[in-house]
Order: sequence, then structure tokens, then C-alpha cells
Amino acid sequence: MNTQPAPHRLAGQNALVTGANSGIGEGIARELAAEGANVAVNYVVQPDVAQKICDEINAAGAGKAVAIQGDVSRETDVQAMFAAAVKQFGTLDIVCSNAGIQRDSKLVDMTLAQWEQVIGVNLTGAFLCAREAAREFTRRGMRDVSRALGKIIFTSSVHQEIPWGGHCNYATTKGGIMQLMESIAQELAPQKIRVNSVCPGAIETAINRKAWSTPQAAASLEKLIPCGRIGVPADIAKVTAWLASDESDYVVGASIYVDGGMTLYPGFATGG
Ligand code: BGC
Repeated sequence: MNTQPAPHRLAGQNALVTGANSGIGEGIARELAAEGANVAVNYVVQPDVAQKICDEINAAGAGKAVAIQGDVSRETDVQAMFAAAVKQFGTLDIVCSNAGIQRDSKLVDMTLAQWEQVIGVNLTGAFLCAREAAREFTRRGMRDVSRALGKIIFTSSVHQEIPWGGHCNYATTKGGIMQLMESIAQELAPQKIRVNSVCPGAIETAINRKAWSTPQAAASLEKLIPCGRIGVPADIAKVTAWLASDESDYVVGASIYVDGGMTLYPGFATGG
């Protein structure tokens, strides 16, 4: 029997994860580091929370972590964040554009501020981070740590596919991320930059706490999930780490739904 520990799939690589101080982003940062990557843990507020995550990653002994502040909806912040990560690690090989927010409202009550905030963080932020990532990968050129010049991975959502009344700003950004991802995946593939999305379903994090934190809410949510459980950040982080690794070298422009079957029209299991 082979008792050797699995080699770290991302050893020698450097990653930036936006919105990495909680939820899915935190899970991704921890997983990439466990696979050997150095990780820039981006946050907007609460530096102490981001620093604690970095301290725990650093104590775990694989990849190193550093906290970097920046609001992804602001061009100057994104450029400063990339400059700080490159200064720290020398370059970046993996960029996970993960930061996302919800500002839920019925259409008729939705304020322009609610619309613009969500577009700003979720979609403009994704564009700004992807652009800086491609610029850095191209500036630096190939390294011998990966078959790719670089990897860009978006955290999208099942709502790039499933319409979501009461959340039209959020669903619009996720539909937009799908076209952004596919368009730049096509554009950048010849340069060996791989661009893909992970599309989470209902994952237990702060963004959707109301939907799972009481037994009644959880039971009603589970009706939308054929496999019968609400996801956890590690479900998403494992797939993201695989997309960052050379094991997925031929995966280009893909949306990988990690949703327990939420996109399978569960209502049709008994109806239709
Ligand atoms: C949203 C969550 C929601 C899930 C499934 C995610 O993209 O952020 O609030 O629970 O989709 O509907």
C-alpha cells in the first residue's frame, strides 16, 4: 500500500482570494494554502478577522498567508491589492474572484444604491480582478510551477442559471459573471490562462443565514436540494482547488455547479 502523503498540488504557487475573511472565500483560502499555495487573504473590514485566518494558515505549516485590505468595486483598491500581493510573493498564479454581497429587495422597492452596490462588488469587482490577474500573468510569463500561465476562478452561483425574484440585482451579476467568464476564457486560452467558474448552491455562510439558521428555514431550503443537505464552504473550496491545479488543465470556460442538485428542477421529481 502506498502510504506516502499526497504531494501538495499547488506547491510553489501564489494565490489571491477576494472576500476571503468569511464564508466560501475563507474556505477557499484555507484549502489553497493546505495544497501548498501562498495566499493573499483579501478583506474590506475587520482586519483582525482576516489576520486570525492568516495566523491559523501560517501555523498549519503548508502555504503562507498574508491579509490585504481592498474593496474590489474600486479600481484603485484593486490595483493596490494586486501590487501588495505581488510585492509580498513576487507574482500571482491563481486569482479567485470570490467577493460577493446581497442587498435583497423586490424590484419596485429596490433603490439605485442597492442595485449599484451589488453590481459594483459582484460584477465590476470580478472584471477588475480578472483584468489585473491577466495583466500580471502576462507581464511575468511562464513559470515552471504550473502548465498554465495563470488561473482565474470566479465564485458565481446557481443564480447565473436560476432566476431569483426578490434578488434581481444579485442574479443579474451572476448572469453577467457567466458571460464575463466565458468571453475572457475564450480570449485568454491561447495565452494559457485558464478561466472557469464554480457555481455554489445553498452553502451555509453569513450571506444566507436567514435561509438555514432555524429548523423551519432549513427544512424549506432542503426541499430545493435533491441530495438533502445544505452545503458547507469546503464543498466549494475543494472544487476550486482542483480548478486551480493542473489536474483540470483541459477545463477551460466551464461553469461547475456544486449545488447538491439544486439546478435539476427538484419540483419535477414528483410533478410535471
Ligand atoms: C446565494 C444564497 C442562496 C444560494 C441558493 C447563493 O448564490 O448567495 O443566498 O442561498 O445562492 O439560492
